[in-house]
Amino acid sequence: MPAAILPANTSDAIEAAARALRAGQLVAFPTETVYGLGADAGSDAAVAAIYAAKGRPSHNPLIVHLPSAAEAARFGAFDDRAHKLAAAFWPGPLTLVLPRIAGAPLAERVTAGLPTVALRVPSHPVALALLKACGLPLAAPSANVSGRVSATTAQHVAEALGDKVAVILDGGPTEVGVESTIVGLAGPRPRLLRPGGVPREAIEALIGPLDAPEAGVVAAPGMLASHYAPHCPVRLNVTDPSADEALLAFGPDVPQGAKVTLNLSPQGDLAEAAANLYAYLRRLDRADIAAIAVMPIPAHGLGLAINDRLRRAAAPRDA
Ligand code: TXA
Ligand code: MG
Repeated sequence: MPAAILPANTSDAIEAAARALRAGQLVAFPTETVYGLGADAGSDAAVAAIYAAKGRPSHNPLIVHLPSAAEAARFGAFDDRAHKLAAAFWPGPLTLVLPRIAGAPLAERVTAGLPTVALRVPSHPVALALLKACGLPLAAPSANVSGRVSATTAQHVAEALGDKVAVILDGGPTEVGVESTIVGLAGPRPRLLRPGGVPREAIEALIGPLDAPEAGVVAAPGMLASHYAPHCPVRLNVTDPSADEALLAFGPDVPQGAKVTLNLSPQGDLAEAAANLYAYLRRLDRADIAAIAVMPIPAHGLGLAINDRLRRAAAPRDA
């Protein structure tokens, strides 16, 4: 049965979604980054349903969402760096990977057997209201089929996962548009495991330089080569699109010649571009084009996350 899409602006809708979560069902909900596919992080069966619905490999752990840093401290061990970052950026688009607290009430599958746990306090009012109403830690990956483009509207969720969730809370298009920044704090040196909605520069200003993920170790297993992929091939750093391509443009100087063009931000604003990224990739992903050609996008601020996602969207695919 297709899920009920409920406008999220009533307490009835939040209560209905909270009831579904307490009953072990899946609920899609808006966060400030992308829509999440949520379930009770304490229930092995509910978490297993997330992996099944997405077709997600079971070695790829999930982020646990909480309504406050105080709640998060029940699950992960905060050091000074973690306290600093939480105080500055929570609620907001930041995920901290911390040593998991022994005996923390989490389903084993949430962390895919790792000794660490990924924690985030989202800032979207619907996400916060839902977390408070259900009283559960919510495991929530992005609400898309594994490896595909993330969902930034309730309609995107309904198209991909509508028959697999009990409720979709519709809070309109998400504001940030790319996933949270993931910082690894389980070792002595902080690491940028995934660029995202909080710019790297803002984090480094507080806790110093961030290392790359440890060489040879897949620190964020979801950060594998091909991900965020539309159906069409993706070609990067294009300044000469061909007539059978769809152009994903950025900035005021747009080359001519593509079959169709969408501009992420005519003014060259990276936050606007991030907010439009996934919806525009979906709109250009058409059967009548040979490839999505993407113009160069500056690699600072939110541009780091945009370039990261586009690189993975363009990577060779297994299937
Ligand atoms: O903005 C976001 O973070 C969204 C919204 C819904 O909150 N969620 C999201 O979840 O992007 P997901 O599952 O699509 O991406 C989570 C990433 C994956 O790359 C996963 O491998 C990594 O977090 N991750 C989770 N737990 C981890 C851990 N203990 N250590 C390292 N990486 C971890
Ligand atoms: Mg994802």
